[in-house]
Amino acid sequence: MAEVSYLVFQDIEKRFSSREGKGQVAAVQNVNLQIEQGELITLLGPSGCGKTTTLRMVAGFESPSRGEILLAGERINQKPPHRREMAMVFQSYALFPHLSVFENVAYGLRLRSLLEIEVRKRVLEVLELVGLEGLEHRPPQQLSGGQQQRVALARALVLQPKVLLMDEPLSNLDAKLREQMRTEIRRIQQTLGITTLYVTHDQAEAMTLADRIVIMHRGQIEQVDVPTQIYQRPASAFVADFIGQSNLLPARVVGREGEVWIIQALEQTFRLPSTALARPLAIGEAAQLLIRPEAVCLHPRGSLRAGVQRATYLGPIVEYELTLGTQLLTVVDRDPLRPRIYPVGAEVNFDFLPGCLYLLPA
Ligand SMILES: Nc1ncnc2c1ncn2[C@@H]1O[C@H](COP(=O)(O)OP(=O)(O)OP(=O)(O)O)[C@@H](O)[C@H]1O
Ligand SMILES: [Mg+2]
Repeated sequence: MAEVSYLVFQDIEKRFSSREGKGQVAAVQNVNLQIEQGELITLLGPSGCGKTTTLRMVAGFESPSRGEILLAGERINQKPPHRREMAMVFQSYALFPHLSVFENVAYGLRLRSLLEIEVRKRVLEVLELVGLEGLEHRPPQQLSGGQQQRVALARALVLQPKVLLMDEPLSNLDAKLREQMRTEIRRIQQTLGITTLYVTHDQAEAMTLADRIVIMHRGQIEQVDVPTQIYQRPASAFVADFIGQSNLLPARVVGREGEVWIIQALEQTFRLPSTALARPLAIGEAAQLLIRPEAVCLHPRGSLRAGVQRATYLGPIVEYELTLGTQLLTVVDRDPLRPRIYPVGAEVNFDFLPGCLYLLPA
């Protein structure tokens, strides 16, 4: 028998009655996904794309309108939340203000009527894991935002859930703390080897945390892949645009010589290997050429030429907006030896780094 994945979504759909009271709207549709044990999957996408709804169906707070959710081969659609052995961490930490850190974390264990000595052992272990040792007697309001989020995480982990669900857990923290906490979350997740579904709309967070990223758009999955593939080989213009900065130039397929495709864009001809195409296209078909800002290489002998419309100095990099006819081109220049910043109005020469071009359907 084929090996089954740990957590499986089979053709999941969730419809809600529309808020205007007219018929139904699909919040999630055609979702098929296989998650392996110990994987950290981030669900990434714009507001309203169905991330929270997906997570809530796994937790059992919503039931799918169609399709199956399987955990370790068992269908769990009808299983009530408290019997799924999952734990969820929310954006609002939802701590009990009148209980100490220790009692907040111990809460779920007490409902299971464990021996006091066992409760103590498990709570102290998990507090150490999340870096809160010594703070167990404090009330939550005497903790920083980051520490409160650690309590929320500890409270989830102490239950030793089969799956950890996190819905934008860091969005209430400032940028610096968010970066620190995401490294911490990754460390803890890997220490425990716990299967995790992590919702975010922050692409840097999704990239640094994930084994694989699921990009959602209007209730559907656009792409599931490891971060490098999502960035370098996006499945659609939506993904390309959503992850990182992108220049999408109007292009056309004009010919093909075996595994080499001849593409026209910016009145130039480019030769791309088949691997640089999101999918095979017909000769004559319109397309979009994806060029990441760092793949534009400024140098005096470059064969293309454009005017500087905007120059932003950011220390290690300079960001330019170039105009080339009606086309705008975002460029990130990180040459530490370049003596000066090109001023607005200057004309610059450049080339595209070969091997960094990618062709998407129009
Ligand atoms: N209980 C509900 N009743 C009706 N519509 C709902 C309900 N819950 C969610 N929706 C709709 O389903 C869609 C997906 O919502 P969801 O909360 O899953 O999005 P999200 O990706 O988590 O967005 P955000 O990033 O803003 O949190 C939205 O259009 C939302 O309005
Ligand atoms: Mg949400």
